[in-house]
Amino acid sequence: MKFEILPSLLAADFSRLGEEIIRAENSGADALHLDIMDPHFVPNISFGPDVVAVSKKVAPHFYRNVHLMMSRPDLFIEKFVNAGAQTIQVHVEADCDLHQVLSKIGSLGVKRAIALNPETPVERVFEFLGEVDEVLVMTVHPGYGGQKFIGECLEKVTAIRSLKPELDIMIDGGGNAETIPLSAKAGANMFVAGSYLFAQSNMTEAVANLRSAIGELVK
Ligand code: DX5
Ligand code: ZN
Repeated sequence: MKFEILPSLLAADFSRLGEEIIRAENSGADALHLDIMDPHFVPNISFGPDVVAVSKKVAPHFYRNVHLMMSRPDLFIEKFVNAGAQTIQVHVEADCDLHQVLSKIGSLGVKRAIALNPETPVERVFEFLGEVDEVLVMTVHPGYGGQKFIGECLEKVTAIRSLKPELDIMIDGGGNAETIPLSAKAGANMFVAGSYLFAQSNMTEAVANLRSAIGELVK
């Protein structure tokens, strides 16, 4: 199974956005995680398709993983695909027909993922497991970077892993040198880290250390 590390752009220095995207790409990380928020779904607003397009422009070969924390992702799928999204993650708590949304994402040639919040029971995603390329298990309440990792969410990772041995399972929120290896042990194979990675003076070394810590555990 592949293991991937994804810096979350939300934690970047926005006054130097282009350079920060390039720093993340040069760190050896596998993909860029782009957090899109609307204030109905979370108590915050981040950025929209234009920033996804900027990341495509400055780092065309750096894979773009787009996390839609939106109540109505169905209204924005084409916009994010046109901006350069390569995986789109929609929440099971969204207010729209998710089977339809996932099928639309797939029909546009983009990878599909279903995400679930910490308070959402894992059973809610079961009906979608045959229609997605990836599941995103939130390990913080979405809305902000820099929050504390909620360890109980890893039970959901283990439950999904036992049902789907081959499926990509990502964790998002509070990822760092301690919580990412724990998540790998629970069955996750893709790891978002925002504030932890962007705070590093040497992101390359931090990414390499995370990889070796994961590698040691899953040997
Ligand atoms: C939370 C976002 C996360 C966040 C992670 O709403 O979905 O992707 O940026 O940031 P850290 O790693 O700082 O918790
Ligand atoms: Zn995210």
